[in-house]
Amino acid sequence: MILSKRLQAIANQVPSCKTMADIGTDHGILPIYLCLNHRINQAYACDIAPKSLNKAIEKIKKYHLEKQITPLLGDGMKMLPQSVESIVIAGMGGHLMTKILNESPHFHPHLILQANTHMEMVRMWLMENQYVIVDESIVFEKKQYYEIIHAKKTNESIFYDDFALKYGPILMQKKDPIWLQKYHQLLITYTNIDRQLQQSQKKDVKLLQKIEEIKKIVQD
Ligand SMILES: C[S@@+](CC[C@H](N)C(=O)[O-])C[C@H]1O[C@@H](n2cnc3c(N)ncnc32)[C@H](O)[C@@H]1O
Repeated sequence: MILSKRLQAIANQVPSCKTMADIGTDHGILPIYLCLNHRINQAYACDIAPKSLNKAIEKIKKYHLEKQITPLLGDGMKMLPQSVESIVIAGMGGHLMTKILNESPHFHPHLILQANTHMEMVRMWLMENQYVIVDESIVFEKKQYYEIIHAKKTNESIFYDDFALKYGPILMQKKDPIWLQKYHQLLITYTNIDRQLQQSQKKDVKLLQKIEEIKKIVQD
């Protein structure tokens, strides 16, 4: 089974464990891949939409994984047992992701999160709920950048400053080439906008602040 770049990057962040759950599984590809590659023993493929879950059920049958993967129809993580070690939530916006996390009855040891928007909000949720970010990765696919976080539950208090929340504490350290490419491109876009504004004798202070901020993170 060949995964898309984004799904492969998400799969790579899932630690080998007994049980995982994929929240908003849709096609069910992720738990299927993890079972086929013996990375997990048991999985829950969860979705709120019957149509999506049916796609997953069909695929689970196709790969004869009915004994290992349990499909669950419902909202977020509400019906999951506490014993599930790793949770994946991917391919949705940061608002919905943090809502699902807030409504979970349990804290699970590992969270692997890929939000299409508002990653800053997701990192803030992790910080406020004592999860430490242990790894981050980034991929570029279909003209989009996708960031993936692996966070672990801790009892210690966690602090990320505004830069870390926005740009990713580990991605900033790693200076991943894809991450650098993302911000170099953004820098070019913002600089061009600023140039156009200057030509019409205008100035956008917020834009100039963003340019300085990005220069700082890519050059540090
Ligand atoms: C765009 S798909 C992402 C599929 C897959 N996770 C991926 O990354 O490729 C989002 C899925 O989340 C499901 N979803 C949305 N809200 C949900 C919720 N509150 N609980 C569970 N699933 C939800 C949708 O039905 C849909 O199947």
